[in-house]
Amino acid sequence: MAGRIPQQFIDELMSRTDIVELIGEYLPLKKAGREFTACCPFHDEKTPSFTVSPNKQFYHCFGCGAHGTALGFLMEYEHLDFVEAVHELAERANLTVPLESRDSSSARHDNSELYTILEETAAWFSRQLRRHTEADRAIDYLKRRGLSGATAAAFGIGFAPPGWDNLLREFGNSAKKRRQLQQAGLIIEKKQGGNYDRFRNRIMFPIRNTRGRTVGFGGRVLGEDTPKYLNSPETAVFHKGSELYGLYEARQAVRKLERILVVEGYMDVISLAQHGIHYAVATLGTATTREHLKRLFRNVTEIIFCFDGDRAGRDAAIRALENAVPEMREGRGIRFMFLPEGEDPDSLIQKEGRGNFEERITDSVTFSKFFFDHLTAQTDITTIEGRARLIDLARPHLQRLPAGVFREMMAARLRELSRLETVKLERGNNTTNAGTRRGKKHVKSTLSPLRLVVALLLQCPRMATIAGDPQRFRSIGGEGGELLIQLLELLQDNPNLKTGAVLERWRNRKESRYLAQLAQWKPPFDDEAGLEAEFRGALARLEQQQRAHRTDALLQKAKEGTLSAEEKSELQQLLNRDNQG
Ligand code: UTP
Ligand code: MN
Repeated sequence: MAGRIPQQFIDELMSRTDIVELIGEYLPLKKAGREFTACCPFHDEKTPSFTVSPNKQFYHCFGCGAHGTALGFLMEYEHLDFVEAVHELAERANLTVPLESRDSSSARHDNSELYTILEETAAWFSRQLRRHTEADRAIDYLKRRGLSGATAAAFGIGFAPPGWDNLLREFGNSAKKRRQLQQAGLIIEKKQGGNYDRFRNRIMFPIRNTRGRTVGFGGRVLGEDTPKYLNSPETAVFHKGSELYGLYEARQAVRKLERILVVEGYMDVISLAQHGIHYAVATLGTATTREHLKRLFRNVTEIIFCFDGDRAGRDAAIRALENAVPEMREGRGIRFMFLPEGEDPDSLIQKEGRGNFEERITDSVTFSKFFFDHLTAQTDITTIEGRARLIDLARPHLQRLPAGVFREMMAARLRELSRLETVKLERGNNTTNAGTRRGKKHVKSTLSPLRLVVALLLQCPRMATIAGDPQRFRSIGGEGGELLIQLLELLQDNPNLKTGAVLERWRNRKESRYLAQLAQWKPPFDDEAGLEAEFRGALARLEQQQRAHRTDALLQKAKEGTLSAEEKSELQQLLNRDNQG
């Protein structure tokens, strides 16, 4: 399992990074008052609405609603994932990223040695393909499969020669090195002691992460042996559930990726590239996970899944469909492409060429069509019972769709198919709508006291020190109350955190969008004295509101005659206080 990056390090990184300097390297920023502006890099515009605040260490576009911290900017702009963006920023700040393992927070790991040994091994495998005395068979095999030298080079294809200890003898000359080889999954320990090479007599495909570092390998036999493909085991740097074979190469080959085709095999990716389709990736012998999808949607807005035309392919497509539901929203597209029986992308493109193959992509089934086709196939929608069942089948999936236009449209289609005017999607009081949508430009100008307190804290985190004991807000209850307490506790302990660093603390938590939304609020005054006065006022209103709620609850109890003696005197006090104004 991968280590986790400690929160203190993220804090440190955020405090050492200047978002204006960082974004200034990508965009021509102009000073405008206390902030900096530019034309937004995330949507087309002629007049600048992209704003960077050095105070908050936060950027925000009034045009398209894009917003985030320095880390968020790197992720969006450079299509990096969180860990990659942390490394990128750390490099700029001259910091080394420490890792704490999941089971012990003190142990620190540094994977740089692992990356080095994997890189050296990849280079060595590829050298063997050119130089080893038995490499002819491997070269012949690749040629027979139609690969050019250029394609082999682009994917770094190599050759693990026959024999039990070639790699071991090349790199494993010390105990330390052997331990590294083992941690990288390249050698295996024998029960009776000693080690041997994992990959023997195989064509080697290096698996690279999005930064281009080799993290593992797939190895194919030259003939009919089993297993046909041998893969690196999970290691500290290789996670099958999130890596995608060919993504790095696709990003190298295509300047602006617009869509990505997800296929099954290494050779499918490579063969498609050989025929000019440079935007295919493969999962590594696993089903497509949500993590895969998130990673893909960071690069493109359209994903096409490619499946075998048989029963197993259909089943796999349905699993992919179900996994994809929470990731679907307006502006994103997923399609499902089914191949003729007996073909895989490699065999098909060899047979019919790029043009025909890309036509199949164009003709592939959209997410919504596949979704409803799949459900209507299970019921007879010419009957009332069938249409009722359709609603039951669809509802749990539609409920998992993020709120937004896409969900509305799917619900509309369900109404059409079921011929029912209203299909209720929500259960109970669902509040996920609030502030989750991009493009909502401003926070409402009349904020509730709770929101106002949070918004002011995000404006000037240091003010938390004048808020008193956070626990007295306990009775607010709910998620909002909990959030306020956590925020106050964090900031009272760390009064120097900037807004950007605070938002990083909430990354991956469901309140993060809510906080980011409030962070964009522009107060009507921006001097510190004004902010502080407003903050004190908001706190007072919040307490007043809490008292009012408590009073109502106690009055209700009084009506029901269930008031205890203590509660009675509490109510008396509350009422007296109110009367005094
Ligand atoms: P396939 O068996 O469909 O092979 O495996 P393929 O991609 O068509 O390979 P070629 O054309 O015969 O070379 C698809 C994927 O499943 C995983 C690999 O990731 C492979 O690319 N796999 C398959 C394994 O991990 N191990 C195996 O033994 C077989
Ligand atoms: Mn194949």
